[in-house]
Amino acid sequence: MKIKCSIDNKSQLLDVNSNKPLNLILIEESGGTIKLSSCNSHLCGNCIVLLNDEAVLSCLIPAFQLKGARIVTFEGYQKSRFFHDLERAYADTGSQPCPHCFNSKTLIFESLLQRIIKEEGTTSRDEEIDEYAIVKELSLNTCPCLDAQEVIAIYNAAAVYRRRRRVRRS
Ligand code: FES
Repeated sequence: MKIKCSIDNKSQLLDVNSNKPLNLILIEESGGTIKLSSCNSHLCGNCIVLLNDEAVLSCLIPAFQLKGARIVTFEGYQKSRFFHDLERAYADTGSQPCPHCFNSKTLIFESLLQRIIKEEGTTSRDEEIDEYAIVKELSLNTCPCLDAQEVIAIYNAAAVYRRRRRVRRS
């Protein structure tokens, strides 16, 4: 089937089997420059990409769900200015994901930043951040290298930088 979508901000017309998983599509279409895990058991969580700004396990997304989708891989994301917010948060807190899960956890943090800070624009700024939801979302990747406290500290540090961007834009 033919599918129009965008991958790392480039329009693509894919010609793929409708059930082919997104991680394999990305690896093949990029000629191997996009590196994603393929554990074949849907358990490792090292195949995360952003699909319409949400962090998803790309091995669980069949091609037929990609019509009109906006897909961002870590390789594309690390060229964006938003990555600097997380790099600074990692440096500020002295904590960061291990090399094994760095790409996937960074994209999960990014999806949380986009969602929560967007919601802050429509609700009270004093509303409590749902720490449980943040830690739960990070568990999409099963690597235990960061504990809950580190996850919250990184998120909070990155959120400060992201809010500053929003203030500068407005
Ligand atoms: S490849 Fe392991 S969870 Fe997707």
